[in-house]
Amino acid sequence: MKDYPNVTIFNHPLIKHKIAILRDKETSMKEFRELIEEITTLMTYESFKDVPTEEKTVTTPLETCVQQVIVDNSVVIVPILRAGLGMVNGVHVLFPSARVGHIGMYRNEETLEPCEYYCKLPEGIADKFVIVVDPMLATGGSACDAIDLLKKRGCTKIKVMAIIGAPEGVTKLAETHPDVDVYVSTLDRCLNENGYILPGLGDAGDRLFGTK
Ligand code: PRP
Ligand code: URA
Repeated sequence: MKDYPNVTIFNHPLIKHKIAILRDKETSMKEFRELIEEITTLMTYESFKDVPTEEKTVTTPLETCVQQVIVDNSVVIVPILRAGLGMVNGVHVLFPSARVGHIGMYRNEETLEPCEYYCKLPEGIADKFVIVVDPMLATGGSACDAIDLLKKRGCTKIKVMAIIGAPEGVTKLAETHPDVDVYVSTLDRCLNENGYILPGLGDAGDRLFGTK
């Protein structure tokens, strides 16, 4: 896959270690859920280097100084249902007051085309830093459609965070939305004939919620 200026692939040993456990088919639902959250928090730390800050005067026991703090209510988390829900707490650890918008999409199993079935976004989202979260970026269809929807609502500052990406999906997202920053913790080999990522981790929603 070629390099894209708007795509960051993480190459951190802490994340690699957690991904190895996440992939293992013997990993329990509880551990899977915890790992998704932990990896998301590690990725959030790095992905929000440009989050807006403002000055605040703080009085220490010794003197008063001017400090940088994150602008209140500047971030909105948008999980793509269902599997994106598993990443919300991982972002909330670092942005506890972030509001959450939900976009429901499922992939048609034959065409692999995403179908939107739900959308509820916080008021005023157009002015916020929006982070779209979904553990799996396979064909990229779901993420691209979610971004189209957010842009139609006026959002201009959008990031996407995915735990595992296929080259097909990362390429589609990077080229369709070059103005969106894309963060992927691991780039996998390819998609199989059913649109699953190889080696991947299987169906993220099923593993998070125990539906299979
Ligand atoms: C999975 C995943 C993404 C989508 C990725 O969701 O969580 O949303 O597939 O595939 P794409 O990049 O090819 O669009 P799925 O449709 O299985 O729904 P679920 O989260 O409810 O299980
Ligand atoms: N969705 C998943 O949950 N896993 C894949 O490998 C592809 C799409």
